[in-house]
Amino acid sequence: MPLITFEGIDGCGKTTQIEKLSDYLKNKKVNFSVFREPGGTKIGEKIREILLDSSNNNMDEKTEFLLYAASRSQLVKEQVKPRLEVGEYVILDRYIDSSVAYQGFGRGLGKRIVTLINEFATDMIYPDLTFYLEIDKETFEKRMRNKDRLEAEGWEFMKKVMEGYNSLKGTKRFILIDGREQKDKIFQRIIEELEKHFAL
Ligand SMILES: Nc1ncnc2c1ncn2[C@@H]1O[C@H](COP(=O)(O)OP(=O)(O)OP(=O)(O)O)[C@@H](O)[C@H]1O
Ligand SMILES: [Mg+2]
Repeated sequence: MPLITFEGIDGCGKTTQIEKLSDYLKNKKVNFSVFREPGGTKIGEKIREILLDSSNNNMDEKTEFLLYAASRSQLVKEQVKPRLEVGEYVILDRYIDSSVAYQGFGRGLGKRIVTLINEFATDMIYPDLTFYLEIDKETFEKRMRNKDRLEAEGWEFMKKVMEGYNSLKGTKRFILIDGREQKDKIFQRIIEELEKHFAL
């Protein structure tokens, strides 16, 4: 039934909150699946390898975006659509908004073309609810510390990405959460919103 996505810059706490939500839904005996982007399918995981391979350091930003879109398209056809149709909850660790933010604003491809190709790739399957975990520079740097990430981009890049997320703030499905708060407090907020929207 519902499609729920988690968004925000690197280290904002998406995976942490999805793990908590998974435990919660398991307890409630709710049927759900979790997928991460890029990936979630055999083809998508191969695309992920290409995207995360640090030796591919000359990748054109259009190539990069189209690979994300290709992985997304495969995920929607193979996993998301069929599961939504049988009434499962589907939870995604990043989805269309990540491309708006990272490729559209971060890489400068623009929101219009990214939105168009997102719609083409997903057959207009939009999330019912999106949790955007917002953090600031201080929190970003703290959470990134000691993290050996080849793909780590600096704050200057993340600032552009955040502009992209800011541009989505008026959207009805887009729930702004203060990601600087404690993990449990954030999770309470998420549950409140879910209970408000769905019969959990
Ligand atoms: N609310 C929080 N307070 C303090 N630390 C947190 C909080 N949420 C997450 N963290 C910590 O910050 C780090 C990054 O969290 P997490 O991996 O969940 O982020 P993410 O959004 O999934 O990042 P990425 O986009 O890189 O996958 C982890 O070490 C995690 O334990
Ligand atoms: Mg993560």
